[in-house]
Amino acid sequence: MAKSLSFHCSDCGASFSKWSGRCDGCGAWNSIVEEKPLSTGPGKGLGGKRGRSVPLVDLDTEEAPPPRTQSQVAELDRVLGGGLVPASATLVGGDPGIGKSTLLLQAAAAFARRGLSCVYVSGEEATAQVRMRARRLGLDKANVRLAAETGLRDILTTLEAEKPDLVIVDSIQTMWLDTVDSAPGSVSQVRAAAHELTSFAKRHGVAVILVGHVTKDGQIAGPRVVEHMVDTVLYFEGERGHQFRILRAVKNRFGPADEIGVFEMTGKGLAQVPNPSALFLQDRGEPAAGSAVFAGIEGTRPVLCEFQALIAPAPHGTPRRSVVGWDGGRLAMILAVLESRCGIPFAGLDVYLNVAGGLRVAEPAADLAVAAALLSAREDVALPPETVVFGEISLSGAIRPVTQTENRLKEALKLGFSKAIVPGGGKRLADSGVALRPMADLTGFVGDVFGA
Ligand code: TYD
Ligand code: MG
Repeated sequence: MAKSLSFHCSDCGASFSKWSGRCDGCGAWNSIVEEKPLSTGPGKGLGGKRGRSVPLVDLDTEEAPPPRTQSQVAELDRVLGGGLVPASATLVGGDPGIGKSTLLLQAAAAFARRGLSCVYVSGEEATAQVRMRARRLGLDKANVRLAAETGLRDILTTLEAEKPDLVIVDSIQTMWLDTVDSAPGSVSQVRAAAHELTSFAKRHGVAVILVGHVTKDGQIAGPRVVEHMVDTVLYFEGERGHQFRILRAVKNRFGPADEIGVFEMTGKGLAQVPNPSALFLQDRGEPAAGSAVFAGIEGTRPVLCEFQALIAPAPHGTPRRSVVGWDGGRLAMILAVLESRCGIPFAGLDVYLNVAGGLRVAEPAADLAVAAALLSAREDVALPPETVVFGEISLSGAIRPVTQTENRLKEALKLGFSKAIVPGGGKRLADSGVALRPMADLTGFVGDVFGA
């Protein structure tokens, strides 16, 4: 008899017949766990249609863009790709206490107002607790059904009878199946529960939203495969000590990924922030040394934010490189380019870089804004006032064009910025009302802006 493959890598999902310390599939250490095979679960699959194929052309093309329901909470609808898709599974991850339960209770109430029947299943709080939160949010009259339950079999049996339009499961780590022989929250339980819930969503045309806990290093706890099972993965992020929260789509089968929705945590729950640029720039005073305003794009929307740099002498030992809101490796690259292409050394200096307000920027287009903030801090010279900066820096020191230049400039103008330092050499730009200073390479930029 063939050996059953009951060991799985929780990172890449590869299967093995025995345990080992390192996964041969992806090279991760300590990621292999033993699992019992998946159950077939309560519902018995797709009935008579199981395994049969249909010609692509026969599919109902009338419904091509899936019919979506909008919550009328624009920040949420945008991240979902334009509204909630029936028969879809969405995973929402985030740190404990960041506001996932609050967000989803508000979402349930918003969808209920649009006529969807919603069930909120809480495995973490009693119904009384959820009701108390709802009262605090002013949603206690909302037409949302509550259940405090963790046994997935009971939940699915009830849901199959009730056939709601939207089910929210808070959280996937608390759900357990009696057919799986391990504790709730374990890799096999989470995987089996996610499998049952996603197939329930597909089978009954129900939209399912799962809440997922996040591990220390910021990933959704449990097997990575859960992220592959669902259609949409959203992360709810924010810095402690900051009031605003960002809902970010990292995967979306029904819309663009990288889209963000910005919310503010208030005493009465989450409020939308329709103009995030104004929020991220709100505490700026006079232009100061070490500050550069970056005109970025988050998803389909331009967002302005401020990069702040501080350079201090490091008399002892290895200088510090500390960065918040931007990639540390990318910072090292920009320092190396400044050093070897422009002859500006940072050795013996501590470098601190921060994106104001707690936004996390991933775009390479921010390279030039980072370089500008670093140089401005090092030279102790403020950048010209009312100026935004963007451009990607290559290892040769060239400044490369970026996408959506016009959108960036339009947003800058809207927020009162009349000048922009931009990549040179790209296509000619239509007159946007912003005075442009095109830069072909970093050496030219340093000479032109800092007179060095
Ligand atoms: P919660 O939604 O319970 O977080 P999660 O489900 O991600 O663990 O949010 C908890 C935090 O939000 C808590 O620290 C209090 C705060 N909060 C407010 O500031 N205002 C509110 O109206 C609510 C409901 C919560
Ligand atoms: Mg919660």
